[in-house]
Amino acid sequence: MAEDLTAQVLSAVNSANGPVLTSKAFPDAEFNTIKSAIDKLRSRGYLEAKQVDRLELVPTEEGTAIVQHGSQEARVYNAIKEKGKVPVKELPSLIGDANVAKFGQMAAFRNKWVKKDGDMLVPLVDSIKDVTGDQLKEIADKKTLSDSKAVADLKKRKLVTERKVVTFEIQKGPNFSMEFVKEQTDLTAEMLADGSWKTIKLKPYNFKAKGAPTPSGALHPLNKVRQEFREIFFEMGFEEMPTNKFVETGFWNFDALFVPQQHPARDQQDTFFISDPPKADPPREDPPTQVLEQLSLSDPNHPDASINPSQTQQNGPKVDYQQYWENVQAVHQDGKYGSTGYKYPWSKDESLKLVLRTHTTAISTYMLKKLAENPRPIRYFSIDRVFRNETVDATHLAEFHQVEGVIADWGLTLGGLIGFMEVFFAKMGITDLRFKPAYNPYTEPSMEIFSYHKGLGKWVEIGNSGMFRPEMLEPMGLPKDMRIYGWGLSLERPTMIKYGVSNIRELLGHKVDLNFIETNPAVRLNKA
Ligand code: PHE
Repeated sequence: MAEDLTAQVLSAVNSANGPVLTSKAFPDAEFNTIKSAIDKLRSRGYLEAKQVDRLELVPTEEGTAIVQHGSQEARVYNAIKEKGKVPVKELPSLIGDANVAKFGQMAAFRNKWVKKDGDMLVPLVDSIKDVTGDQLKEIADKKTLSDSKAVADLKKRKLVTERKVVTFEIQKGPNFSMEFVKEQTDLTAEMLADGSWKTIKLKPYNFKAKGAPTPSGALHPLNKVRQEFREIFFEMGFEEMPTNKFVETGFWNFDALFVPQQHPARDQQDTFFISDPPKADPPREDPPTQVLEQLSLSDPNHPDASINPSQTQQNGPKVDYQQYWENVQAVHQDGKYGSTGYKYPWSKDESLKLVLRTHTTAISTYMLKKLAENPRPIRYFSIDRVFRNETVDATHLAEFHQVEGVIADWGLTLGGLIGFMEVFFAKMGITDLRFKPAYNPYTEPSMEIFSYHKGLGKWVEIGNSGMFRPEMLEPMGLPKDMRIYGWGLSLERPTMIKYGVSNIRELLGHKVDLNFIETNPAVRLNKA
């Protein structure tokens, strides 16, 4: 515990006639120690105290050197005066400091204290008054100087600085006594039994004290950042897609997106295939409402239940998935809709294989197929988990969260996508974007989005985007002249940046420190 100055403060006030300045009475006391003693005594009426702030002048390091040795010009003068004359070249070694010699000589010339005589420096006057040195000595001593012009000049020369000093002016209060009675904090059974409760002094209850933190649940940082993203999307007129199914068919995850069946992403190396059951049933004609109920909306507690079912349950024609399946086969295998296709034998079995979805674009695709029943401008988003069979390291896990957006409208252009991205990322505090042409089987053109990471000092990829291909949209029956943007980014990357986590295992999995989860504040994305 810090030193207790209660008794000393009481005796200082008692022996003084009138107010006492703590800076005078306790020049060496720690500010906090003196303040806690005064607060305690003032709140019990032992003292009256007034806080006085004042500015003190303090010599800087250079100023302190002048206090000790005199000003530079005085040192030069004194050295020359003592020797009678000094060769110009020898002045630095005589003074012992090249800078002092140089600047001191200049000032001594200016003051007409010394002059050059050939190669020699000689004094011009018999004695000098070292004004700067004297002023600084006075400041070191009294912490103040009455000549305000001189103070301004010394500050400009960086020889003194100003420091705010807080002191208290204290005097006796209405309950003053030389003895501070120790206050009890608890009323005990013994005090009641032995009657001492009548005489003890109880410590007043401090209603301003902060309560002890109560244990409570906490949102995971990923969920906090997810919520920030959701709010950005809602603010921009987006609706949330139902994403609560981790298992997809190869069809929705790949084929419908015009990803060829031999694409490396469909390899065991990159995708988790389900072994039991390994395959889905062939598509059947489901009424749209039923499909959606199975998908998510039946659980009112699921966050995705916040989406408006009426918006996805259309009364339009039933979706003919059989026809759609065949359209997708045709566009891959033989070409259709003006596309030459990939020209390979497309396998229905391959499209029925079950996988852990590798991107939420599978959901976007399903939602776009539904849009074809009633084509209209839409803005959809989702934030949920995806799975990739990747080598796990400090920044990669085999699963992560994808933030995904889709905009459908007539007359959309690539320039519009770039403009939208700038607005979207600016809402997260990410402003300087660069776009790089990229390749996705399902978008053309495709662009990787980069932003300059100040901490890493380089451009980092923050997202992938593009305009969906006709080979993907036309088999669905979407109007030829409708344009659709899509983009995706990971939720983990911005979360790690915002929370200063460099290893993903500190954020997810069994190594996570629960204290980290509980104590982290919510982040505002726009405040880096
Ligand atoms: N599916 C892409 C990914 O996983 C993101 C994306 C979505 C790109 C939509 C373009 C369009 O990175």
